[in-house]
Amino acid sequence: MQEAIAVSDTVRFTVNGEPRCWQGEPMARLLDVLRYELGLTGTKEGCGEGECGACTVLLDGEPVCACLVPMLQCEGRAVQTIEGLGGADRLEPVQRAFVEAGGVQCGACTPGLVLTAWALLQREPRPDRARMREALAGNLCRCTGYERILRALEHTIAARQGGGAPAAGTGEATP
Ligand code: FES
Ligand code: FES
Repeated sequence: MQEAIAVSDTVRFTVNGEPRCWQGEPMARLLDVLRYELGLTGTKEGCGEGECGACTVLLDGEPVCACLVPMLQCEGRAVQTIEGLGGADRLEPVQRAFVEAGGVQCGACTPGLVLTAWALLQREPRPDRARMREALAGNLCRCTGYERILRALEHTIAARQGGGAPAAGTGEATP
């Protein structure tokens, strides 16, 4: 007879660089732990089914949907939320670019989009629009039409290179 594999109810991980020792139901959603146990409400819930990207956080630097991640998968991993990137008093340049380009309207999608965009620019400092659209495809936005979000990324890239912002486009884009 096979022995059942023991699943620990203790998960050691880091959140925004801070070590955490969490105990609870191993299949609890990372999204709920962040929002309701750790008070990190910058991570939003939209669909709850992995479709909208509102709940995006970084897991070992990669964007994931926190609504689909059970706590057991967080053991030994590093979670970064929007609170770890910056806040109202210390905006990270990607966040500032979103604000200045008009890429923030209702804001429901913004934390997830900013984290996905930031992770992309960490890996690829100068993605073109096609690559941006590909990377952001899992983050839905009902308000902006995406053009302003793409401009925000272009502004960030231009600022990092010490240049001015690229000429504003006129059309709306789909990621
Ligand atoms: S709430 Fe997680 S993808 Fe929509
Ligand atoms: S700003 Fe409203 S959904 Fe994106």
